[in-house]
Amino acid sequence: MQILVLASQKGGSGKSTLAASLAVAAYEAGERVVVVDLDPQKSLTSWGALRSASGIVFRTVAPDDFNQWVVRTRQIPVVSLCIVDTPGTFGPGVDVALGHADCALVPVRASVLDLWAGVPTARRIGVMGRRFAFVVNGASPVSYARTNDAIATLGENGLVGPVVSERVAHRDAIASGLGVTELDPTGKAASEIRELWAWTKQRMPTEQVSA
Ligand SMILES: Nc1ncnc2c1ncn2[C@@H]1O[C@H](COP(=O)(O)OP(=O)(O)O)[C@@H](O)[C@H]1O
Ligand SMILES: [Mg+2]
Repeated sequence: MQILVLASQKGGSGKSTLAASLAVAAYEAGERVVVVDLDPQKSLTSWGALRSASGIVFRTVAPDDFNQWVVRTRQIPVVSLCIVDTPGTFGPGVDVALGHADCALVPVRASVLDLWAGVPTARRIGVMGRRFAFVVNGASPVSYARTNDAIATLGENGLVGPVVSERVAHRDAIASGLGVTELDPTGKAASEIRELWAWTKQRMPTEQVSA
């Protein structure tokens, strides 16, 4: 089981939005996905409650129980990917998730305030020895200057993944319990999310098969 954690010390950067659509895109790409919501705001749990499609499994796990949950779930070979959404403030709940992360994605909006928050987030993840990448989220689909500046700044501090643009499909998808690839499979939001998933998957260590 690979564990992908969405983390950033900034609320509103798009952790829950990306976690939801990545979970669906990964499921569509053949992963057997469990979503764990460690954020007391429970955005992802609420999104899951709106879903009528089966396939993605949702688990509510208290941060204190997460270590044990991972050990137990690793023994169930049917789960291939666990996506963990975390709160926007670092604390024990986030650390416990990052402690297991095969990869952490750090969504950052292309504004100075967000960049200021994104860089220390990444440093902290780096200090914990975890693999991470920034994702510029909510980028303007028409004007690239700010996005390019953000990529340059973030690139000095870590790997930067494919950009996710600001698109209403993300808001509509969450409101309908869908991923953007379900809401509008041929839309631009869907293709960006598929690209982000494929990129992320390539950067996660392959599963160790125990003898
Ligand atoms: N790429 C995007 N395009 C449009 N709206 C977005 C995008 N990413 C996030 N949002 C919106 O921004 C707000 C904050 O996103 P959210 O996922 O809740 O952030 P976080 O979980 O980091 O606090 C939500 O209203 C969400 O719908
Ligand atoms: Mg959230």
